[in-house]
Amino acid sequence: MQGVSPPRKRESPAKETAGRGRVDDADGGGESSRDEPSTWAIVVAAGSGSRFGGEKQFAPLRGRRVVDWSLRAARRSCDGVVCVLPEETGGADGAPPAEPGADRSVPGGATRSASVRAGLAAVPESADIVVVHDAARPLAPAALFAAVIRAVADGADGAIPAVPVHDTIRHVDDGVVDRSQLVAVQTPQAFRAERLRAAHAHGGEATDDASLVEAAGGTVVVVPGHPHNLKITDPGDLRVAAVLLDDEEES
Ligand code: CTP
Ligand code: MG
Repeated sequence: MQGVSPPRKRESPAKETAGRGRVDDADGGGESSRDEPSTWAIVVAAGSGSRFGGEKQFAPLRGRRVVDWSLRAARRSCDGVVCVLPEETGGADGAPPAEPGADRSVPGGATRSASVRAGLAAVPESADIVVVHDAARPLAPAALFAAVIRAVADGADGAIPAVPVHDTIRHVDDGVVDRSQLVAVQTPQAFRAERLRAAHAHGGEATDDASLVEAAGGTVVVVPGHPHNLKITDPGDLRVAAVLLDDEEES
């Protein structure tokens, strides 16, 4: 993999711009310019947060919900955003209430992969590139979205961020693993849309989408991830995320 770049500064919410633009046209074709591929994001926010002790994606984080930070980052880099929400948030018609930060909101499934498939079904056929992002990663910088999108626009079937592993990793039965051969994989992950659709066409379960695209024969490249792009997993992570956001505001 390539080397890891130093932390990039995130724009503060006050400096938030509309991003590449909301999709207001009826068929959701996006507003990308002629020579730029149409790019949509799927923000998966349908998990139950069992390790956190509740739906962590809706926990408050520095004045907004975790999912709001994730949706904002996606919006800055993509023409349209689909938010995948827990089924139980749906009203009488089964449809979840619309997320203000998303163009489309759909109910998810029992697994992360099923939720991605639900989101993918709501992405317009005209999209060239689809970016999948965990709502639980509210600190993903817009520059990271741009980097994975660029790698796919340049020819890869998929692009994923990864960071080196710093801890000593030990296989419980077989002893220490050579960590120089290991990286920790993050989201956002970008894919050529037809490759992602093909990888999910027959179901399939994995903790990320790159695994499914690779299993279907796609090429996936690695770009430097961001060390602060943590996934909120337990309540302590939320406190760390708040501190990291404060640090960036101050710097
Ligand atoms: N996710 C989803 N649908 C699921 C499971 C997960 O949309 N059925 C989403 C989560 O909301 C999260 C992302 O996938 O944004 C990564 O999953 P994870 O961190 O494992 O979240 P949870 O599954 O909610 O947490 P846990 O595994 O602790 O239950
Ligand atoms: Mg999970």
